[in-house]
This record gives sequence, C-alpha cells and structure tokens, in this order.
Amino acid sequence: MRNVLITGANKGLGYELARHLMREGNYVYLGCRNIEQGKKALSDLQKEGLHNGELLEIDISNQESVRSAAELFDNNGNKLDILINNAGILGKRQNQDEPLNIDDVREVFETNFFGTVMITEAFLPYLRESSLPVTANVTSDLASLTSHKDPDWILYKAKSISYGPSKTALNAYTVALAYEYKDLNFKINCVTPGGRLQNLMVQWWQDTCRKLSDTGSLRYA
Ligand SMILES: NC(=O)c1ccc[n+]([C@@H]2O[C@H](COP(=O)([O-])OP(=O)(O)OC[C@H]3O[C@@H](n4cnc5c(N)ncnc54)[C@H](OP(=O)(O)O)[C@@H]3O)[C@@H](O)[C@H]2O)c1
Repeated sequence: MRNVLITGANKGLGYELARHLMREGNYVYLGCRNIEQGKKALSDLQKEGLHNGELLEIDISNQESVRSAAELFDNNGNKLDILINNAGILGKRQNQDEPLNIDDVREVFETNFFGTVMITEAFLPYLRESSLPVTANVTSDLASLTSHKDPDWILYKAKSISYGPSKTALNAYTVALAYEYKDLNFKINCVTPGGRLQNLMVQWWQDTCRKLSDTGSLRYA
C-alpha cells in the first residue's frame, strides 16, 4: 500500500484524486485547511466504503501549519510515497481599469508557489524513505510562456498578473527540484488538468495517476 498526501483534498480535483487513489488501494492523507470541510469529505468517502484515508490539517500558505502537519505525519513514523501538490487558488481577477492590488498578487503566490515549496521541503524527508518517491505539482496551461506568445492559442487573452505567473514559477521550481534529484530514483513532475469540465476530471486524474506510476518524465505546460 502506497502512502499519498494530497493538498486541497476536500473538494474539486483534489477530492476526486483522493477518491480514485483510495479505490486503487492507496492510503491517502487528505490535506485540508478547513477541518470541518475535510471531515465532510472524508465522511463522504467512507460512505462509499473507502476507509483507507485520514485527514491532515494543512494550510499550505502558513508556515506553522505546514510544520505542524509534517510533525504529525512524523509522529506516525511514516514514509511518504506520493506527494500531490494540488492546493491552489485563482485569486481575485484583476480589473485592468483599476490600480494593481499587490496584496492580491502576493496571496496567489503565497499559496500556489511559496506554499507548494514549503510543503515539498517539509515532506521531502518522508519521501526519501520511499523506494519510489513521486512528487506531482498541479500546474496550469496558463503557466506556459510559450503558449502566451501565440496569438492563435485559445487562451491567448487569458493573461493575469497573478495566477499564470504563480504557476510559471511553480514550473520553474519543479524543474530545479527535478534537477537536484536527477541522480536519485525520484519522480518529480508537473501535471496540468487544462480547463476541465467536472465529468472529465475523473478520467483526467486516472490518466495522470497512470502516468505518474509509469513514467519518470517531467511535463510542464
Ligand atoms: N479546475 C481546473 O480547470 C484547473 C485548471 C488548471 C489548473 N488547475 C489547478 O488544479 C488545482 C485544483 O483546482 P480545483 O479546480 O480543484 O480548485 P478548487 O475546487 O478551488 O479546490 C482548491 C483546493 O485547494 C485548497 N486550498 C486553497 N488554498 C489553500 C491553502 N492555503 N492551504 C490548503 N488548501 C488550500 C482549497 O481549500 P478550501 O476549500 O479550504 O478553499 C481546495 O480544497 C489547483 O492547483 C488549480 O490551480 C485547475
């Protein structure tokens, strides 16, 4: 049984991934910043007969919360096989007619970039205990600088000062981390769901899980 930690697992893509990985027989730690919403998510999974999971309270943008979560994980004497850095925020849409609100930009980077870096650093010691550690950073097509240069790209006009750049930084971090661990048996990836309709999510996650198990390749948008 592989141990998996998914951040932002109380809803959306993180929840669907938790459900899928539990069905596949993994033990899943559902990282949630809101414990009540986390309990509801866990209870819904248990109603489906999925009991191979538990909550781990984490606010990824709060250093103390990340440290406490790692300590709690450590108390269990655990190894971690798969870390899915899924938690992320879109941020408030910037209105180009108004002055830029730098606090909004900071909040998005605190979560999507700095939060992911903090979680990864905090859980690397437990990943090192695994025989085949995997880290997957959930990025976005909007991170791609190459795509943003192409006027024919369907998302060409979807430019923002915060969300896309925060995911571009995340991609760059992933490349640096993958390079740092290139000589170890460590899979470090970015995955992008693209723009997903709800009914396509499960299929996307199933494909993603298969790729994470099958390949060590690094993909970034
Ligand atoms: N859905 C898409 O089409 C799409 C496309 C491209 C990329 N993505 C990426 O996929 C990931 C999941 O997206 P989603 O659509 O499933 O979003 P979502 O439904 O809004 O879920 C986001 C999750 O992240 C959690 N979260 C946010 N900030 C957090 C923090 N500081 N600490 C801990 N948890 C935090 C949320 O918790 P709360 O419930 O407490 O807010 C929630 O559980 C994100 O990284 C997103 O950027 C999504």
